[in-house]
Amino acid sequence: MKKIIYSVFCVILLACSSNTSTPIKGAVVSARIEASEAGRDVLKKGGNAYDAMVATSFALAVVYPVAGNITGGGFFVYRSAKGETGSLDYREMAPLKATKDLFLDKEGNVIPGKSTVGGLAVGIPGAVAGVLEVHRKLGSLPLAELIQPAIALAENGYVVSAKQAKSYNCYSKQFTAVNGKVTLYAKGYKEGDVVKNIPLANALKEIAAKGNAGFYQGWVAEAMVAKTQATGGILSLDDLKVYEPKWRDPLKFSYKELDLISMAPPSSGGICLGQMMKMIEPYDLNQMGHNSFESMHLMVEAERRSYADRSHFLGDPDFVDVPQDHLMNEEYLLDRMVNYSPEKATSSADVSHGNIIVVESDETTHFSILDSMGNAVAVTTTLNGAYGSKVYVDEIGVFMNNEMDDFSSKPGEPNMFGLTGSEANSIAPKKRMLSSMTPTIVEKDNQLYMIVGTPGGSSIITSVFQTILNVYEHGMEMQEAVNAARFHHQWLPDNVVLEPTKFDTKTIEGLQAKGHSIETKYSRIIGKVDAIHVNELGTITVGADPRGDDAAATH
Ligand code: DON
Repeated sequence: MKKIIYSVFCVILLACSSNTSTPIKGAVVSARIEASEAGRDVLKKGGNAYDAMVATSFALAVVYPVAGNITGGGFFVYRSAKGETGSLDYREMAPLKATKDLFLDKEGNVIPGKSTVGGLAVGIPGAVAGVLEVHRKLGSLPLAELIQPAIALAENGYVVSAKQAKSYNCYSKQFTAVNGKVTLYAKGYKEGDVVKNIPLANALKEIAAKGNAGFYQGWVAEAMVAKTQATGGILSLDDLKVYEPKWRDPLKFSYKELDLISMAPPSSGGICLGQMMKMIEPYDLNQMGHNSFESMHLMVEAERRSYADRSHFLGDPDFVDVPQDHLMNEEYLLDRMVNYSPEKATSSADVSHGNIIVVESDETTHFSILDSMGNAVAVTTTLNGAYGSKVYVDEIGVFMNNEMDDFSSKPGEPNMFGLTGSEANSIAPKKRMLSSMTPTIVEKDNQLYMIVGTPGGSSIITSVFQTILNVYEHGMEMQEAVNAARFHHQWLPDNVVLEPTKFDTKTIEGLQAKGHSIETKYSRIIGKVDAIHVNELGTITVGADPRGDDAAATH
């Protein structure tokens, strides 16, 4: 009932507000206003959402070097205006010379830092091949036209925000240590400074002129390989020649009236999101209340069980058999919740994977796009950690990724996100490392309902989970749903991480009374959700996460 009253109230509010503001026809929501505007301008001049994806991706590589990239990888999920769906995997791959024990010493112990900092952490970049493949299959405007806004941003410069200045200065010592000299982002910055990046503009021009060959061959490829090897890596020109993105069937499942379209392996995102939603489906979450300790307890118990499965079963489907159908089977999932008690937390020590685990990082970025025809795009892309491996290639003005840390270096050993993995996610040449990235599109009554995703390492899946429920179960508007306090549980470590300062004592004590261990001081990355919602009347609203500089550009 509460939900109905709230919805009616929202409809009245929207109806009132529509008198005063022009309805949104299309939108791009990303980590930076410049990148959102680059995509939005493409929409305004008649490009489609896929064209805007290209413009926004390249613009993020310029203005958001912490995660925006041409040297990382990502996942693209789309739903066309006609309701056709698809997904592209342009995740990095392990180099040809990679071995299972790449990050282990002679005793078989993980060498700290090897998979996160320096050349050995670098996987074969998939981003350029992925973005160009989206353009080849679905784009409508010429590629060079879509890369041009990024080139202009690199040549004319972008303005450093307060958050960016803090971040660049915080990492500057590491940049200099890895690169042996002061590179572009180690120079010391303050809010308002303008960063120009001519080498990156040159690399983008090469891609605009030659397509994939402009990145995977020639001077750009040679510069990446030389710098990665000089900093201890094994990336070779042969690796760059063999990289290819893959169209994969998206992972689809339903939750009450919703149909969800998300990323299948090598992302764990779709499977875990689906498992968690199915496990809580029998309960009345709305009645329990938003972020009440009852609803949080239920969601945490679903998260705990799903992350245990993730850790054991998931890896690159081209290398291991992922029992996807079994993991998504309704009876299996109901059975996983058989020992759920509304009164008491289950100990993670008592939860293993089901009868039939995985690891991750620190900076990634997600953007959502909707064009005026109704084509919807969800993209999450990453260098893994903030500024990836910190290896900076001067000739092309970018950092290389450290995606190799998303493999399980040794079964049971936690990665930078505290995630553990199994044999399924061990390193092998050309294998893709398991991911948590969860670009997701939601339908209701066969109509587009939401485009959503976020960075946040292991907390990506739980942040997407909560954002969808905030709108659907708790009747929030898109921005309110994005702003709402978030929490996270990933099986191991066995604690509920609460976004610091956002939960009251009553909630914390309520969870503790059920036996949950609570973490509030250590602010595990909890996501920066960028999302678009379309309501029953077709009204479009956006949510850009205030935790970052995220911003929407609409028309
Ligand atoms: O693919 C993954 O799951 C990780 N490489 C994502 C890293 C990430 O989200 C860092 N962001 N805050």
